[in-house]
Amino acid sequence: MKSILVTGGSGFIGSNFVHLALQQLPDCRLVNLDKLTYAGNPENLKDVDADSRYRFVRGDICDADLVNRIFAEEEIDTVVHFAAESHVDRSIEGPAEFIRTNITGTFTLLEAARQAWLSDAASAFAGASANKRLTPHASRFLHVSTDEVYGSLGETGFFTETTAYDPRSPYSASKASSDHLVSAYGHTFGLPILITNCSNNYGPYQFPEKLIPLIIGNALEGKELPVYGDGKNVRDWLYVGDHCRAVLAVLQGGEVGQTYNVGGNNEKRNIEVVHTICDLLDQKIGLLADGRLRRDLIRFVKDRPGHDRRYAIDATKIKEELGWEPSVDFEEGIRRTIDWYLEHADWVASVRDGSYREYYERQYGER
Ligand code: NAD
Ligand code: TYD
Repeated sequence: MKSILVTGGSGFIGSNFVHLALQQLPDCRLVNLDKLTYAGNPENLKDVDADSRYRFVRGDICDADLVNRIFAEEEIDTVVHFAAESHVDRSIEGPAEFIRTNITGTFTLLEAARQAWLSDAASAFAGASANKRLTPHASRFLHVSTDEVYGSLGETGFFTETTAYDPRSPYSASKASSDHLVSAYGHTFGLPILITNCSNNYGPYQFPEKLIPLIIGNALEGKELPVYGDGKNVRDWLYVGDHCRAVLAVLQGGEVGQTYNVGGNNEKRNIEVVHTICDLLDQKIGLLADGRLRRDLIRFVKDRPGHDRRYAIDATKIKEELGWEPSVDFEEGIRRTIDWYLEHADWVASVRDGSYREYYERQYGER
């Protein structure tokens, strides 16, 4: 049986991944280490709490003692590392937590894996090739990262795995730093690492500070829909289930030491995304109470400082090497997402008004 440590499993992508992994990997045991910051919500995983193959540990990836204990107790042979501070706007307001969790937290996990998996970790000077021979064949450390590390594109072109890093926000700089550390642990110590750099995700369980769930929530409540700048910034949107399938594909078939770009081949301007959501909601649940179209709620607001103009991924490598490609196009994915938010009104309400914290404070004590 594989013993997989998933970090950040109570967040958006992590909780979708935990659901998929428990379905797809019947022989694996899964330990979810999550601090339950504002972005972590154990309700996302309430349905798997009783599964004997699943264990939740509330804790911080920067806590070396805890992380080492989990590696030992659970005989961890695989790490899938999602835990991060993930919102660009928050990284502009307060970068410190991004540096701590994204960089120091990743370093702490790498050190724990090195200690647990490389028997001569203490004498690192032995050299990369010597250490590589000691790597247990089965173990893997998969670091989940973002396309934002590559910076911003003009009207044309795509990010490939060899595009030079050029992060431009505190968030992307902290993720770039963590990618470099992961890579360095592969090169220097022979740690069996893999990295994925993925484009913007959307789908069930996304915290409503990110564009799509924020717009759906506001549009349902008849609130203003803030669009930064001219609304023409482009993102390459990928349905979260497809991202999770890509992570599994890389975990199972990726070549150790390699990076894989993951993208939806689905570029949209922000304003197009907002229009689509408004129109679909008008069709599904009718116009606003005062008879207006939801598009009337759109407000162009002050731009985000340093706002990256365009992201677009070339996902040829993962398609050719691992046969992965997106299975849900944007039209289908956004419909599914809107339906999910409509069907999970309680989840949406508790996350938007903050009452979701009461549930986990009852379960796990004050944060
Ligand atoms: P999220 O903000 O929804 O969830 C992050 C999770 O990490 C939360 O459950 C939170 O409680 C946990 N966490 C935060 N700090 C922690 C700490 N110090 N110790 C333990 N747990 C901690 O994020 P997400 O959108 O699910 O993103 C997951 C990963 O995927 C991140 O690494 C992110 O950079 C990457 N990513 C996200 C996207 C996207 O569009 N959302 C795209 C590409 C890559
Ligand atoms: P976001 O979901 O924060 O993801 P990221 O910044 O990581 O790409 O934002 C997606 C795009 O939407 C980005 O160009 C910023 C823009 N945006 C708005 O126009 N209004 C908003 O309220 C938010 C949160 C984002």
